[in-house]
This record gives sequence, C-alpha cells and structure tokens, in this order.
Amino acid sequence: MKNICVLVSGGGTNLQAIIDAQKNGEIKGGKITCVISSKEGVYALERAKNAGIPTVVIPRKNYSDSVSYSKAILAELKKQKADLIVLAGFMTILDKCLTSEYPYQIINVHPALIPSFCGEGFYGLKVHEKALEYGVKVSGATIHFVNEQADAGAIILQGTVDIANNETPDSLQKKIMENVEWKLLPKAISLFCEDRISIKDGKAYVDLK
Ligand code: GAR
Repeated sequence: MKNICVLVSGGGTNLQAIIDAQKNGEIKGGKITCVISSKEGVYALERAKNAGIPTVVIPRKNYSDSVSYSKAILAELKKQKADLIVLAGFMTILDKCLTSEYPYQIINVHPALIPSFCGEGFYGLKVHEKALEYGVKVSGATIHFVNEQADAGAIILQGTVDIANNETPDSLQKKIMENVEWKLLPKAISLFCEDRISIKDGKAYVDLK
C-alpha cells in the first residue's frame, strides 16, 4: 500500500473527491495517510477530520520564502513516509529542494489545459478569468507530475469542457471541477498507486488496460 499525502490550501473539494473514491474502493494500491494544509481553519481540514484522516497545518505565512517553506513541508513528508504527494488545490509553489526529492511522485491538478493558462500567477479563479478573457471555446483540467518549474511536469490525464456564451469564471470553475477534476484526480492517483504510469523521455504514458 502506498502512503498518499494530500496537500491543500482551501475548500478541499478535490480532497473530498479523493476521499469518496477511496471509500468506494476506487483507489487501488494506496491510502490517504495524511492531509497537510498551508492555511489554518480551511474547510479541507474539516473534510479530512470527518474522514478520520490525520491532519498537519504548516502555515505558509510563517515562512519568509519558498525554500524555507518547502524544507518544512519536506521534513513532514519524510516523517509521514510519503510515497505519493498530491497537490489538491494547494496554492503555493514548491521549491526544487522538495520537488527534486520526489521525481514523478508529486501529482498536481491544474484547472486548465496545460500549456494554456498555467504557470506562476495562474491559480484558482484567475485561471478561468484569463481563459474567458481570451475567448477560448473549450477549457478543462490537467493532472500532471510536478517538477521544478510551475505547471510544467509530464501530463498524466486531461479532460475538456465546452464554454458557453454566458459563462462566468465561477460557472466555468464549477463545470471543470464537476466534470473533470473530481473524476480525473482520483483516477490518476489510482493509476499511480497501481504502477500503471510509465515515463519515457520525460513524458508520462498511462496503461489504460
Ligand atoms: C481547483 O479548481 C484546483 O484545480 C485549483 O484550485 C481549486 C481548488 O479547489 N488549483 C490551482 O489553481 C492550483 N494551481 P479545492 O480546494 O476545492 O479542491
């Protein structure tokens, strides 16, 4: 069984999707062993507690820079003996002192079709505002591995939604979460835990059976 540590910063709907998938037996070969939050008092922590999952809060605001913060998270991940780290609405970019310790072992969900609308500054609702500002007709979400560059690691799964003429950032966020994120994130986690993702020339290939 692989130890899954989930990192969160907010409402935790993606965390809930993983918890629900675990309860339904859809995460094969892995178990959520810890939820780490970058903020105190966020609802994601309640979701973890309700599911009986241990939580740790490491507030980003207590650290002056990304390196010292990443070192603190790294120490906790080592303590937890993490095999897989999932960034589920985690709003802090992690430094390479951490990412280099876990190559192809950190999975992120990004609410757009990478390589569009991604990288530093693109997070949460801002991503959807930018997509609508541009006028794209489809958007979606990307589940990818995390490397030392923001939103640039190997893509594992992507899914799309159509954009309506009267779409708002809020409606687009909801549409992408419900139709793509909450389905593909648990699926990618299970694929990882079942050793069904292989890497070749820096790209991820999924064994869909
Ligand atoms: C989700 O849409 C997730 O894709 C996005 O923030 C939201 C968090 O929701 N993540 C990012 O933008 C990371 N760059 P949640 O806390 O309810 O899961």
